[in-house]
Amino acid sequence: MDSTKKPTTLWGGRFAKALGGDMLAFSTSLPVDWRLYREDIAGSQAHCRMLAKQGIIAQDEADAICAGLSAVLEEIDSGAITPDAERWEDVHSAVEDLLQERIGAVAGKLHTARSRNDQVVADLRLWCRGALDSLGLQLCRFQETLLVQAAAHAATSMPGYTHLQRAQPVTFGHHLLAYVEMFARDFARSRECRARVNVLPLGAAALAGAPYPLDRDFVAQELGFAAVAANSMDAVSDRDFVIEALHVCSLIMVHLSRLASEVVLWTSAEFGFVELDDAYATGSSIMPQKKNPDSAELTRGKAGRVFGDLFALLTLMEGLPLTYNRDLQEDKAALFDGVDTTAACLDIMNGVVGTLRVNAARMAEAAGGGFTTATDLADYLVRQGLPFREAHAVVGRIVRICLERNCGLADLALAEYQAVCDRIKEDVFDAITVEGSLAARDLSGGTAPDRVESALAAARRRLKQDSAALS
Ligand code: ARG
Repeated sequence: MDSTKKPTTLWGGRFAKALGGDMLAFSTSLPVDWRLYREDIAGSQAHCRMLAKQGIIAQDEADAICAGLSAVLEEIDSGAITPDAERWEDVHSAVEDLLQERIGAVAGKLHTARSRNDQVVADLRLWCRGALDSLGLQLCRFQETLLVQAAAHAATSMPGYTHLQRAQPVTFGHHLLAYVEMFARDFARSRECRARVNVLPLGAAALAGAPYPLDRDFVAQELGFAAVAANSMDAVSDRDFVIEALHVCSLIMVHLSRLASEVVLWTSAEFGFVELDDAYATGSSIMPQKKNPDSAELTRGKAGRVFGDLFALLTLMEGLPLTYNRDLQEDKAALFDGVDTTAACLDIMNGVVGTLRVNAARMAEAAGGGFTTATDLADYLVRQGLPFREAHAVVGRIVRICLERNCGLADLALAEYQAVCDRIKEDVFDAITVEGSLAARDLSGGTAPDRVESALAAARRRLKQDSAALS
């Protein structure tokens, strides 16, 4: 750092000398919080208009400040001004310093009845609100993509798994709709979180409130906040909303990573259920034949990173005495990283799913293998009057015979069935087909293709409502 250059701070008066050693470099948050400049300026303009309306500063002073802030905004937007961490310790200092450069001493009136402590939370709440809206939009788009694939494969059979062992036939559409449910809940969570984010902290000032007749409702309205923080001490020290937003991100990442893991499995030669578009796969520097599902693997890997961001915040807040402590400055790096990572993963997985090529023949073949309709055979016996437990045991014996003969359920002759249980009739062969198994699960939430069609329609209706809530 250039030691001849003196930083412009907002608090020099009581100090005999400037920051020493690497203290400015150590304490500056500018490289991280520079991206809050829009929110910072919007918050300052709303605060300033309120000060004038309440007669705390003169209208022409407020006009000069607001116009000056708009000029600063334009210059930052255009790239004419860039963050200089040797000059400013945070975005709030930078904006105020730049304003003062433009309009002179009157700029100093902006900070009346305000502290950086309520200012930084106001900025962060505005940013977080925008981030949740944009994640919400991505969640809607992703559900739309999943719905398109699910509709194309409403009747495509595949094995459903438990313990990663073939269990019962399902349709690929039904499997994808399971993810639609998860992302719909993530969307709902993002909106619930947004409601708690959308509260105005300004007016709390440093911690105790301000000795001016502020109109906090006016500022809230100007900034689109739905409510005003009820307690000034809570307003400046609370970061629950950051933790909640990272929790929203974390659950999105849990769901994305599960899907990503399945995509990795499905693209392997052992499964061969799907093929990734070349745009979302990479090759090997040594093995010319390789096509690797890196898009999905990275998504899975990045989940841990977002959980780390959540834990960083939980640990930051735990045991912290009221009210503002400089520790809180560490909140932004984690929040930004968590949101950016989640947004990037949603974007990539949206591309992965949207361009996935499905090998329906291979899925169907697997759906019928591994005795996936054994439960259907037991249910057939129940219909013939056997208690389910007994039926289960009978089918177990039949499976063992098949395993010894290395054949499937459909390959046994009727006489062989009847040798195990005389209640079995010719119609048993209809009960143990994949199609029969699927069609039989004809209840709400089930995998019968007709039910998948109605689940698709219901999911589309919900998505339409959710998307409308965003605009
Ligand atoms: N850069 C600080 C932060 O992010 C802004 C608030 C500073 N307040 C203070 N009292 N030093 O938390």
